[in-house]
Amino acid sequence: IRDDEQQASGFIANYIVDRIRTFAPTAEHPFVLGLPTGSSPLNVYARLVEAYRQKRVSFAHVITFNMDEYVGLARDHPESYHTFMWTNFFSHVDIRPENVHLLNGNAPDLEAECAEYEQTIRDCGGIDLFLAGIGEDGHIAFNEPGSSLVSRTRVKTLAYDTIRVNSRFFGGDIDAVPRCALTVGVQTVLDAREVVAIVLGPRKALALQKCIEEGINHMWTLSSLQLHPHPMVVCDEDATLEL
Ligand code: GLP
Repeated sequence: IRDDEQQASGFIANYIVDRIRTFAPTAEHPFVLGLPTGSSPLNVYARLVEAYRQKRVSFAHVITFNMDEYVGLARDHPESYHTFMWTNFFSHVDIRPENVHLLNGNAPDLEAECAEYEQTIRDCGGIDLFLAGIGEDGHIAFNEPGSSLVSRTRVKTLAYDTIRVNSRFFGGDIDAVPRCALTVGVQTVLDAREVVAIVLGPRKALALQKCIEEGINHMWTLSSLQLHPHPMVVCDEDATLEL
């Protein structure tokens, strides 16, 4: 628990930098990082960019896999997760474009796209550290309430609550929010060697309480982290209101 968003973000960014430096990745032995979108990780990305500029870390031998992407949104749409990641992070560091993996929500065969994504993660040796955010309903990636805890990357219909909450990014227009997304599964996240979740603000307080103080539950999919051998939840004081 950190006092506020800045401190929580700083802690996570330093933690990731330390992990990468200790790992000492090379072309033959890259570090594999899973990444989220949303407003919660924005400050973490800003700090990682700062660390890169200060030459405290290099992403030259880091491979990334993003958690999710909307279905049917143009790749260059301002709210696509592709645009989000390049704007807020990838364009500002030395990551190689071929090491960046994002699900393609416009693939002609979405199921094949998801299966291939899982295969690519396996081919890269699995994910070393998965950074995650959560939704107000406790979803991790787009694993909405009711998702199987052994789910894999797949197409998911978004919950009405998620569409409503995310409409703030689409000028408040609920109809502009895609109805489906591609998302890594709960099991895809649990397979990572380490998972770090960032939970900020009072809006996430109920979800945090459900996920860490109550039982493992497919209605609050972050609670699946209780099954993981190396999980860490980093939150600000406001997110702890219900604990
Ligand atoms: C979306 C993403 C999630 C993210 C969530 C929270 O639903 N698919 O991966 O955790 O938003 O977003 P925010 O951090 O803006 O609250």
